Amino acid sequence: MEEQIKKIKQTSEKEIADAKDLKVLEDLRVKYLGKKGELTAVLRGMKDLTPEQRPVIGSLVNDVRDELEKQIKEKEAKLKEEELNKRIESEKIDITLPSTKTRRGSLHPVTRIIEDMEDLFVSMGYDVVQGPELETDEFCFERLNLPKGHPARDMQDSFYITDEYLLRTQTSAVQARTMLANTEKTPIRMITCGKTYRREDDATHSHQFNQIEGLVIDKKERNVSLADLKGTLEIFVRKIIGANLDLRFRPSYFPFTEPSYEVDVTCFKCGGKGCNLCKQTGWIEVLGAGIVHPNVLKMNGYNPDEYGGFAFGTGIDRLAMFRYGITDMRYLYTNDVRFLNQFDRKDEE
Ligand code: DAH
Repeated sequence: MEEQIKKIKQTSEKEIADAKDLKVLEDLRVKYLGKKGELTAVLRGMKDLTPEQRPVIGSLVNDVRDELEKQIKEKEAKLKEEELNKRIESEKIDITLPSTKTRRGSLHPVTRIIEDMEDLFVSMGYDVVQGPELETDEFCFERLNLPKGHPARDMQDSFYITDEYLLRTQTSAVQARTMLANTEKTPIRMITCGKTYRREDDATHSHQFNQIEGLVIDKKERNVSLADLKGTLEIFVRKIIGANLDLRFRPSYFPFTEPSYEVDVTCFKCGGKGCNLCKQTGWIEVLGAGIVHPNVLKMNGYNPDEYGGFAFGTGIDRLAMFRYGITDMRYLYTNDVRFLNQFDRKDEE
């Protein structure tokens, strides 16, 4: 019997050492150590042994079993490692190969300008605020010194939802909202950018467009003046549209400012010499601005004897047209990728 056990040990050790893969190794484990395996069969034959022989053979079988188990474990670890190495070898990728080209989107020109303007005004100490697009007649007009029936309302053909609610025609509504929210807290230095709506549609007007609005209010003794307004707009125009542009203030009328101005900049196309774009004047109208009207201060919680400031507003889409030389505003809204592709990282290059 001892002979038989030794023989099992010898052949099984050789077979384990020669096993080519995990499947063969598992078969060997079953063949020798399994319930119906060869070593188990030996143990079953022990009943025919003498009581003296039994413990000797029993411990021999156990030793061999332990040894085989150990060898199978070691072989298994070795095969697994080999298999892993083979996989690493076969799945190797060449990271120096050029990649397949990915299509990348880009920021819309209007978004670009909004982000640039917000950065600029934040750097000058302004807050960026938001207002609703669905606005009330009260905030869009009445609190801006445009009572019902005021003729200046005709300039802003509006989309009314009900008698009281409309799609805002101007971001100026946010002036009133900001003043009311602050009630005599100063200074107010805010800009707001967002969508506005009017019933118009041609090469330079769209029924939906974007405006930026600015408002500064401070105590009278701090003397926020036209000079401050002019300096602010000069920085604004030169940073956002073009560094070499000059500004011209023309007296105008807006119900919420007194005095009011239309602000022109040097024609970006001819540099001020005169061309078809600027109708030979050398100037292009860009902004509306002025000193906040006492009625507007009063209606929105600020005593006009104690507080004062300036406001300005303009269409962002027009700024984008000037900055990028876009000839038709509707390009900004038709989402044609041939148009939009041109703004891919344009500023960074
Ligand atoms: N809200 C005016 C418009 O849409 C633009 C404007 C003019 C805004 C003068 C202002 C301002 O804040 O002071 O035509």
